[in-house]
Formats: sequence, structure tokens, C-alpha cells
Amino acid sequence: MSQDIIFAQSADLESILISEEELTAICDRIAREINEHYRPLVEAGEPLLVVGVLKGSVVFLADILRRINVPLQIEFLRASSYGRSSTSSGVVAIKHAPAPELIAASHVLVVEDILDTGNTLYKVFSVLREQGAKSVKLCTLLDKPSRRQADISADFVGREIPDAFVVGYGLDYADYYRNLPYIGILKPEIYSK
Ligand code: XMP
Ligand code: MG
Repeated sequence: MSQDIIFAQSADLESILISEEELTAICDRIAREINEHYRPLVEAGEPLLVVGVLKGSVVFLADILRRINVPLQIEFLRASSYGRSSTSSGVVAIKHAPAPELIAASHVLVVEDILDTGNTLYKVFSVLREQGAKSVKLCTLLDKPSRRQADISADFVGREIPDAFVVGYGLDYADYYRNLPYIGILKPEIYSK
């Protein structure tokens, strides 16, 4: 049954961009970088709060969390932008966020699926800074630097990708394809229908 579903969805892909093996290697490396960066802080008694951006980050987040070996808390936030569904419009609303007191008491590591125009994360970072987070860093699985509009960059990056619309491993089109175990480029005729 599940193989049939994956087969049906993979027919909508132009090609596979990042294989399961490469995703595993990316998670190993990113978690190592995060451990190295935060271990001294946490050992000095500073609290680490990992904030996943719903929904796209959940698969990546689950994979890196199990490789991070410093004590931490986990929260989620939801941001949405209005406009065409394969690009973001720049008008970003934060729909659900951790308690401001928790943010103010923590070093915050935001985990996102993809940094595209940067408008979503720019808004998220302004809110976290306004609320007084002790520090704010960004970990993104994918980075499309060619499309950046907002002044934001990631501290931990899985991989830079070209300007193509990608799905799988948490990333969606119309909320589908998140369960593909790899990342693929969606055929343009699917999202321009
Ligand atoms: P911005 O442009 O604000 O966008 O950096 C970030 C959000 O836009 C979505 N996005 C994508 N989703 N494949 C997707 O499945 C893509 O290629 C893609 N590019 C942008 C995504 O939700 C991300 O959080
Ligand atoms: Mg997203």
C-alpha cells in the first residue's frame, strides 16, 4: 500500500535531487556542527530551545534531534505567507508560537525546511529577537540563495539548491509529497495546473 502511494507521487517528479543516503549524511554533519556549537553553552548552564517551523521541518527535525546530544527543549511555530502557493508573497503571519517567557529565557535554534526568499524567517527572527531570546540561530535543510529578498542567512545549512520547486522529506506541494523519503524536483506542470 505505502509503496503504491510513493510510486504514484514519484511519477510527479522530474528527478530526485537529494537521495536518502545523502540526507543521512547531511543530518550526521549538521548534528555534529550543532553539538559542537551548543555544547559549551549548555555545559555553562545556558538553556537551548529548538523551534521547528511547521510543517515542513518535521521530518528533518526528527532526524537531527536524535543525533543532537546536548539537553534541549522543543517547541514549534507556524508561519504562513499569502500569495501564490509555489512562492511566498512577503506578507508573513506567525500563527502559533512558543510562550514569550520561554523564548526570553533561551538560546533559540530555529529549524526550517527551506530558506527561499527569506521573508518567512526574517519575520520569525524579528519576533524571537523582540521577545528577548538570548541568541537566535537558523538551521535549514535547504537553501536557495539565488532567490533571497530578505537580509537573512542560515548558520547551519544542509545543502544549497538551484531555483527549482522541490518536495519530499517534509516539503510539500498543496500539503502532499511530505512522506517521500527523498527530495525531488516537482514537474512544473503539476504546480502550474
Ligand atoms: P520564504 O520565501 O519565505 O519561503 O523563504 C519559505 C517557505 O516557502 C516554502 N517553499 C517551498 N516549499 N518546495 C516547497 O515544498 C520549495 O521548493 C519551496 N520553496 C519555498 C516553504 O514552506 C518554506 O518554509
Ligand atoms: Mg516551511
